[in-house]
Amino acid sequence: MEENSIAIIPAAHEVTRSYDTEFKFRQDSDFWYLTGFPEPDAVAVIDPQNKKAPYTLYVRPRDPMMETWFGRRAGVEGAVKKYKADKAFSIEKFENDMPKLLHGRDVLYYRFASDNALDQQILKYLSGQRVRRIKTPYPPHTIIDPTIITGEMRLHKTADEVELMKIAGQISAEAHIHAMKKVKPGMNEAQVESLMEAFMRDKGASGVSYNSIIGGGDNATILHYVENNAVLKDGDLLLIDAGAEYQLYAGDITRTFPVNGKFTQAQREVYDVVLDVLLKCTEYTRPGNTVMGRQNLSIELLTEGMLKLGLLKGKAEDLIKKKAYMKYYMHGVGHYIGLDVHDAGRYFTDQGSKNSRPFAPGMALTVEPGLYIPANDKSAPAKYRGIGIRIEDDVIVTENGNINLTDKVPKDPEEIEALMQKRSRK
Ligand code: GLY
Ligand code: MN
Ligand code: MN
Repeated sequence: MEENSIAIIPAAHEVTRSYDTEFKFRQDSDFWYLTGFPEPDAVAVIDPQNKKAPYTLYVRPRDPMMETWFGRRAGVEGAVKKYKADKAFSIEKFENDMPKLLHGRDVLYYRFASDNALDQQILKYLSGQRVRRIKTPYPPHTIIDPTIITGEMRLHKTADEVELMKIAGQISAEAHIHAMKKVKPGMNEAQVESLMEAFMRDKGASGVSYNSIIGGGDNATILHYVENNAVLKDGDLLLIDAGAEYQLYAGDITRTFPVNGKFTQAQREVYDVVLDVLLKCTEYTRPGNTVMGRQNLSIELLTEGMLKLGLLKGKAEDLIKKKAYMKYYMHGVGHYIGLDVHDAGRYFTDQGSKNSRPFAPGMALTVEPGLYIPANDKSAPAKYRGIGIRIEDDVIVTENGNINLTDKVPKDPEEIEALMQKRSRK
């Protein structure tokens, strides 16, 4: 943080699902990263100038009636004792304390346009300060978005974070294996979704880290298909993109496999192209290479694959220049992963997005090439229509390469078939 600065970092709030019921609470990732405090409606104040008490939490006060209805609160005392804040106050005092906290600071770290209620309190304070009294110290003259710091911190995982991500990856992988062992023709996508989520929670995950994508047949060609309510057909592929959240860290795995346990020749042809790209892009995810370099590699390899399959015609170079590959491969080959499934941190190291980020030890990324050939695509060879394939793993970059967090679940087609052979016939 800058000299003579202070940071205000809000917790998440409960969000209404409908009428008087809320979505299950999920803490704000930055707030969680910095505090480990699990409750809504709190604010952390970080004040490096205050050597004795640089870390203050404003939290919901204890309230027997509210706690009887809605759950326990740590309260002001718990915030200090259990969560190690240097000082704590009721959140109800925060607005009144603002002049005391901010007067005379050069810099305020605060992310506008995320928390509307807090934005209004801070704007009210700032506009109030324009009417200056001679003796009142100045309000901050510079406001900086703190995610410029927290994004860099979160991008490079600590050893403790790597341990949690390994568990998130492991539970996610086992849930996919569980699904591969259960899927058969006639099942509904919703049943697959629910058996995977039940499995994850049974293994200690809080649930899924994003809405599961369970797409049979042509549904696999819709990137964010989340309806998950169709019957799985004999002869179709099933694409499952699902991950567990463990202590707020995300897993994110995609596997695509035959509903009846056996790939057709045409399915294998497309699958093998995508698998080869996955393996090469995973190998590429290491120090010395960059995020954009990897994206370009995936585009080159998949364009060659599309030529080989007869999906595109022409010269690879021209097709890449014209972005013709986007007809069948229209997303990135991966993203950062951590507390958020699409995690914090910048992909370029300059404001103009010219210099791509080099891979460095501790960075966690997915690798997820795909090919999507809609059923109604008259220009594709008939045998490939309605095939959508994505394969996705999570890796942590190391000094010389990477650790694959999710490779326990098979992706080799013969291994998948062997695993599915063991399904019960009931
Ligand atoms: N499931 C979201 C993603 O793969 O990025
Ligand atoms: Mn995914
Ligand atoms: Mn992903």
